[in-house]
Amino acid sequence: ESSDATKLKNLYNEAAKLFHHILVNTVMGEDAMQYLLKRGLTAEMITEFNLGFAPDKQLLLPFLQEKKADQDLLHRSGLFIETTEGKLRERFRNRIIFPIRDAQERTVAFSGRLLEKNSNLPKYLNSPETAIFNKRKLLFNFDKAKGEIRQKKFAILFEGFMDVLAAYRSGIKNGVASMGTSLTNEQVYLLERATQKLYICYDGDVPGQTATARALSLLDPVTKMTLGVIRMPEALDPDEYVQKYGTDAFKEIAQNTHETALAFYLHYYEQGRNLDNEDDQLAYLADVLKQLAQVISPVEQDIYLNQLAKRFGLEKSSLLSQLNEFIRKTG
Ligand code: GTP
Ligand code: MN
Ligand code: MN
Ligand code: MN
Ligand code: MN
Repeated sequence: ESSDATKLKNLYNEAAKLFHHILVNTVMGEDAMQYLLKRGLTAEMITEFNLGFAPDKQLLLPFLQEKKADQDLLHRSGLFIETTEGKLRERFRNRIIFPIRDAQERTVAFSGRLLEKNSNLPKYLNSPETAIFNKRKLLFNFDKAKGEIRQKKFAILFEGFMDVLAAYRSGIKNGVASMGTSLTNEQVYLLERATQKLYICYDGDVPGQTATARALSLLDPVTKMTLGVIRMPEALDPDEYVQKYGTDAFKEIAQNTHETALAFYLHYYEQGRNLDNEDDQLAYLADVLKQLAQVISPVEQDIYLNQLAKRFGLEKSSLLSQLNEFIRKTG
């Protein structure tokens, strides 16, 4: 590691300390603290994840300057925005700070969340890419989760930071999140070195389910990992699920209610369709059989063909010939 990278990481770790101190010990952090407690976080978790608060004040700059931080480094750090007069201004203002750490548990970036809805500003704001932060290569919480992933022999991929934290306080500590983007090959590689199984637990809303289908179809051709889904009911995200049904209920589904990718698609393709209607039924079967055509195991294919034949009152042989047609087409 270059000394420049080390210096940048030191800067981020100092900044994280300041933000955490502000959240936990000062009047400026009181509203943010209340907000986090109201969302179900505990003081222990706030400390464990080193969450912080960046107030709408010029505090970080003098704090780092007092620590003799190099001016040029400050410019390149991504912690500040340069004004037109070339002055530095805090990038994160009035935001709850989630430190993003690398696998060595060093803070390399932040994501900041607004306390209140403000349609003019993004809900979450991430650090820009820097010499130490390549968001394609990092997963939120991988530093803490990696041991647990190895031990449990699976990882859970969430959409959001708050979902990872809600899972964590339910005792599910093998959860990670990519930072608002779809999973990259680099992130897949990170997970593959720790486990052979990945469960996707995205939001239960339509965007979350669409993202799940997309993640499965992108991942399947490139990964050795077995893929599955933990599906959230009622369009809830995992954090909302924990709020509504409690930590025990979440723990139970996260540990025991895993669907195969195909079982997920069987639900997914029902969205927006009325399966009593013949046209919808045909379209549904075509979508499902196309997915089934990708499955290598003939036993698995057989199980689902039996289910479909029974459910729709069809001859298995006609489903099979349609399936073989799709297999022939996709080669
Ligand atoms: P909460 O409202 O705090 O519970 O957030 P959430 O995680 O439920 O948010 P959502 O489902 O809308 O988004 C999931 C993830 O996408 C977030 O955790 C962020 O990482 C990312 N994200 C959401 N909104 C924004 C945004 O405005 N900008 C950026 N860069 N990322 C976002
Ligand atoms: Mn959103
Ligand atoms: Mn979402
Ligand atoms: Mn969400
Ligand atoms: Mn949420």
